[in-house]
Order: sequence, then C-alpha cells, then structure tokens
Amino acid sequence: MLKQRQYWNNKIIEWSASGYRKKKEKISLVERIAYPFRKADKRYLAGIELIGPLAKNKVVLDLGFGVGDFSFGIIKYGPKKVFGIDIADSAVAFAMKVAIKKKVERRVQFRRGDVTQMKTLPESDIIVGLGFIDYLNRNQLRYLFKLIGKRKFLFSYFEKKLSILNLIHSVYVKFQNCPGAFKFTRKEMKRIIPLSAKTSLISKNNLVFITNIPNLKELDWQYKL
Ligand SMILES: C[S@@+](CC[C@H](N)C(=O)[O-])C[C@H]1O[C@@H](n2cnc3c(N)ncnc32)[C@H](O)[C@@H]1O
Repeated sequence: MLKQRQYWNNKIIEWSASGYRKKKEKISLVERIAYPFRKADKRYLAGIELIGPLAKNKVVLDLGFGVGDFSFGIIKYGPKKVFGIDIADSAVAFAMKVAIKKKVERRVQFRRGDVTQMKTLPESDIIVGLGFIDYLNRNQLRYLFKLIGKRKFLFSYFEKKLSILNLIHSVYVKFQNCPGAFKFTRKEMKRIIPLSAKTSLISKNNLVFITNIPNLKELDWQYKL
C-alpha cells in the first residue's frame, strides 16, 4: 500500500487535470473514465458559489488544496489571504508555479503539511476542504474538528450509502491502490463531529457539504446533522 503522501505526490496533477478537464496535462484512460463520476468541477463551482460571498477581507484556509483550483477561484472575491495546506510536495510546487503565472503569489500561500499531524492550523476565518475529508479516517476526522474548534468550515462530503456511484468509487480506489478513502454514513458522521460544532448538511447541485456556516445562500435543503 502506498502512503497518502506518496500516493498524492504521484497522482494530484493528473487527478486535477482530469477533474477540471485541463487540456495541457496528459490524462490516462482510467482518469478520463473517472471524470463524470468525480464531479470535481461541479463541486468546485458549488464551493465557490457558497463561500465566495463570505470571503471578502477574510482569511480562507484551503485544506488539501490539490493544485489550488479553489484557492485561485476564490481570489476574485477579495479575501485578505488564501492559505493552502496539502500533503503532496508536487501539489505545492505546481500551485506555486500557477500562482506566479497568475501574478497572485502575494495573495496565496501554499505549504506542504499533513493536516492529521499538525498541532494547530494557520489563523483563518473560513476553512474549506473539497474532496479532502474523504481521505481521513474516523480518528483523523475527530482530530481535524478538534483543530478547527469554533472556526467556520465547509467540507464536501462523500456519504456512505448503497449506490452505483459509491460502488464505482470503491472499485476505482482499490484499482488505484489508494492508501485510504473513507466513507461514513450520516449517523457515523454525527458521532464523529462534536455537537458543539452545530453542523448542517447542505446540498448544492446534487453534491453534499458539511458546514457550520449558518444561512449559506441558495440551499436546496438544510438540516442538522
Ligand atoms: C481529491 S484531492 C482534492 C484536491 C482539491 N481540493 C480539489 O478539489 O481540486 C485531495 C487532496 O487532499 C490532499 N490530502 C490528502 N490527505 C491529506 C492530509 N492528511 N493532509 C493534507 N492534505 C491531504 C491530497 O494531497 C490531495 O491534493
């Protein structure tokens, strides 16, 4: 089994190219097939729509930023700063190059780090993770919410349930030798996240997010976890 860091080091650039249909990068057949199931671009758009209106003058922390798609996308909403932490060295190197190319290197700060091993998170007003918490196990998730404390967060959530999508995802993860992709039912999530976080599940464009931000705009539905 590969370790999470090694896995993402090898994977993230192609993953992002496939997820966001970037034409410049080489994409294998498996990743091309994975594209419609992954919905990374739709998840990104939903994340931007939800967080964008709240981001002005705020410090946004993008956990598991990949190659920075969300971090770069949120910049036009005027955050004071965007911090990104990712376990993969290749992610940091790639995102920094893009930041320079986009001339936003003063507004974003990317660094390598394993969130599950960090003692604290950088000072931030809003914490976002798209396709991130899916790679943390139960104890790592508990630890993450302890680190977050009372800060506002929005995480995409891949719910454990019987569905074709879940089945295809499990086959993909096994086939790719991914060291750990975890799914939890809503009931299990409820036990993992501290009650004090006052968390809700919200759905946008058929994607589910976990958040403690009240009154996010244009929700399809919202209920307490
Ligand atoms: C599915 S990708 C999502 C990337 C990006 N958020 C996006 O949606 O485009 C998951 C990302 O989480 C990162 N990651 C996984 N485990 C991590 C950890 N323990 N600490 C920090 N980053 C992690 C991976 O390196 C990868 O870039």
